[in-house]
Amino acid sequence: MGVPSSSSFSSENINLRNITPENIDQVRSLHLALFPVHYNDKFFDHLLQVGEFAKLAYWGDTCVGLVCCRLENDGLDRSKLYMMTLGVLHPYRHRGIAHRLVDHILYQASLCDYISSIYLHVQTVNEAALSFYRRNGFEVIGYVENYYKNIPDKHAYIVSRPNRPRT
Ligand SMILES: CC(C)(COP(=O)(O)OP(=O)(O)OC[C@H]1O[C@@H](n2cnc3c(N)ncnc32)[C@H](O)[C@@H]1OP(=O)(O)O)[C@@H](O)C(=O)NCCC(=O)NCCS
Repeated sequence: MGVPSSSSFSSENINLRNITPENIDQVRSLHLALFPVHYNDKFFDHLLQVGEFAKLAYWGDTCVGLVCCRLENDGLDRSKLYMMTLGVLHPYRHRGIAHRLVDHILYQASLCDYISSIYLHVQTVNEAALSFYRRNGFEVIGYVENYYKNIPDKHAYIVSRPNRPRT
């Protein structure tokens, strides 16, 4: 399938699928293509166990993006949902694919009244991601110097938004 022109954007072209043992190699390839950070086998094994909190995005039949989260218990009875990775291949950006992925995660979180917030780290230099998150209701709540190892731009913002449970 070729890369569509801007006139052919339609959210009907986007569909989300589960991460499974059959497509986990595709998930690895996307991480290599999209992120400067190295992810280990444990990371990918974990993705097979988080259910709706990890998804692949397809444009038609082409796998073009993903979102991967993990639940973190606060030691009491509340959890935070940590968004580990969110990315869309460059030729498929600006057509609402990441928005759809984040929407899915926010909806799934809203079904869990024990989740207090959704948060993530983003490189301070990653303007595109920061403005994307702001437009999707997240705000910067912290800064971590030298958060990233072995990459040139090491500093991170912590970006968060409250969960809005439906019950
Ligand atoms: C950040 C990132 C995930 C955004 O992905 P994306 O799929 O392009 O995001 P969206 O399309 O949902 O939104 C981005 C823009 O496209 C616009 N858009 C959405 N649908 C559109 C459409 N049908 N036609 C035109 N523009 C559209 C949005 O309004 C937004 O525009 P704006 O930036 O001018 O406000 C992507 O840039 C990326 O993968 N970056 C590299 C990895 C990364 O940095 N990840 C985040 C840190 S983990």
